[in-house]
Amino acid sequence: MAANDNEEPVMATELPVRNKQPRQQLTKGMEHMRAYVIVPEAPPAGEDAYGVPATYEPVRKPATTVASDENPQKRNDPFQFGTRYLEEGDDIFAHNAWDHVEVDAQYNDFIEQQTTFQRENQVSDFDKQRFNDKPEKWWDKFYGNNQANFFKDRKWLVQEFPVLGEVTKEGYGPVTVLEVGAGAGNTAFPLLAMNRNKDLKLHACDYSAKAIDVIRAQPAYTAQESPSVLQADVWDIAGQELPPGLIPGSVDLVLLIFIFSALSPDQWKQALNNVSSLLKPGGEVLFRDYGRGDLAQVRFKKGRYLDENFYVRGDGTRVYFFDEKELREIWSGEKTEDDGAAAAFEVRNLAVDRRMLVNRQRKLKMYRCWMQGQFRKPKECET
Ligand SMILES: C[S@@+](CC[C@H](N)C(=O)[O-])C[C@H]1O[C@@H](n2cnc3c(N)ncnc32)[C@H](O)[C@@H]1O
Repeated sequence: MAANDNEEPVMATELPVRNKQPRQQLTKGMEHMRAYVIVPEAPPAGEDAYGVPATYEPVRKPATTVASDENPQKRNDPFQFGTRYLEEGDDIFAHNAWDHVEVDAQYNDFIEQQTTFQRENQVSDFDKQRFNDKPEKWWDKFYGNNQANFFKDRKWLVQEFPVLGEVTKEGYGPVTVLEVGAGAGNTAFPLLAMNRNKDLKLHACDYSAKAIDVIRAQPAYTAQESPSVLQADVWDIAGQELPPGLIPGSVDLVLLIFIFSALSPDQWKQALNNVSSLLKPGGEVLFRDYGRGDLAQVRFKKGRYLDENFYVRGDGTRVYFFDEKELREIWSGEKTEDDGAAAAFEVRNLAVDRRMLVNRQRKLKMYRCWMQGQFRKPKECET
């Protein structure tokens, strides 16, 4: 799994495709006149980024009076998330990333066009069944093929979810954290490394047995003293059972980092009910996942659309892109299916994280969009 600068796993999709430009026609006899009669195209500002035309521009904020090089938020290092705003006059390619960047209205039209195209060229019914039936098999393949690219340092974890800093402090006391969709341990291992709380229990679960094998094979896992802090197990969040070693109402925090998007919408309800059952009243879900209109969604080509906002990547793994309103409805229990409601959570700090990542060398602008939130099981809730 390759990860970009500091964010979520970037899964293999398609190779970038460049739109062909129609050649401006001149008769042979007129060819010598080309330079006089054709308006020259403006030199491209950069390549198209994964099929997204380079001409789309980010919306800039008015310039502040502080000069860029004096503004600590604009320096490259150390870099605080969420504080580098693109202002009038800023050189886009002076930094690797800009925060809270919206794109001009043209870009929204482009997203619409792309979605229509994707919908019109969707996955065949035969293949839909192939990808939706036993989806863990595709993740097993993924973890079998990508052994070398795991383990990115996730410095943003504690910054975005300060409670993780608290529960890993020495003397915090007994606390149980469950990570679901733990993959190769990109979150679990950094937490284990920073932990100073001898009473922390960290459960890392994934429904891919191969992913759990990867975690269990790591020296940081095997070298743990007994009783171990980290326990890795195979578990399906949308299944009918609870994970090994955990009983209802025993978990303080559930981490869902880029896993909810791997579920199909008809699995959300069971997943929420399992999470609610496991959490103590007042316990919380820490959530980060793909947002609607993210580059990863926009760049999908033919034969990837499974359903509205739900796609299959080139490697057979599935991905959904969430919208803020929809996520709020899902977690607050407002979005009910015909066969009864899912557990309801208190929605806290739900936010859209838009960021423009920049490839400075190739002058590419990449518009990313993630959703982040915390969902709390109500205190008065029965387990
Ligand atoms: C995009 S990866 C993210 C992995 C990890 N959270 C990270 O951020 O590096 C999604 C993970 O969720 C797991 N997953 C998908 N559906 C699941 C389910 N129903 N139950 C448990 N794990 C699941 C996949 O096997 C995969 O490891």
